[in-house]
Amino acid sequence: MRRVTLTDIFLHPITQKYLKRSGVAHAIATAYHAYRLALQYGVNVDLATKAALLHDIGHYEWYSNGTWDYETYKQNDIHAIKGAERAHKLLIRLGEHPQHAKEIALAILLHTDSYLPEGELKRKPLQTIVKLADEADEEPGGKHHYRQIDDELALKKIQQLDRMVEQQLQRDALDQIS
Ligand SMILES: [Fe+2]
Repeated sequence: MRRVTLTDIFLHPITQKYLKRSGVAHAIATAYHAYRLALQYGVNVDLATKAALLHDIGHYEWYSNGTWDYETYKQNDIHAIKGAERAHKLLIRLGEHPQHAKEIALAILLHTDSYLPEGELKRKPLQTIVKLADEADEEPGGKHHYRQIDDELALKKIQQLDRMVEQQLQRDALDQIS
């Protein structure tokens, strides 16, 4: 069974701090998209939802003098690198299996190629899913980062997704022995 749940991750102060910055509503919507896509692609739903929930925790404050400077952001952004590292540290601290922590971190690292040199990036299915899930929730001008969600509703959605993941992992386990 899972060593760490989405609820464990979501309620951790580190997650709260960085998700409040990049958008709790966006993180949760991306995690739900990742669940759906993981089923479609035959990828582990546990890894996909965790990577999607944490994919943007590497963002820094984009504001200068109260407004978001999108151009400077685009030139200097390394949120995927920071996010991968933060997520990995957090997951290990929570007791996640090291192999899973690594796979989740890599999916976060590669969810965007905006910071990489030009060229074709060959993603594994888990990495593709996190990218597609993120894009499925994107709004023009980065508006998805500002969409608000009530704390209580956010937690309920995370707990619901945990139950969906648990049920799917049980189905996967049954498939393996039949
Ligand atoms: Fe995102």
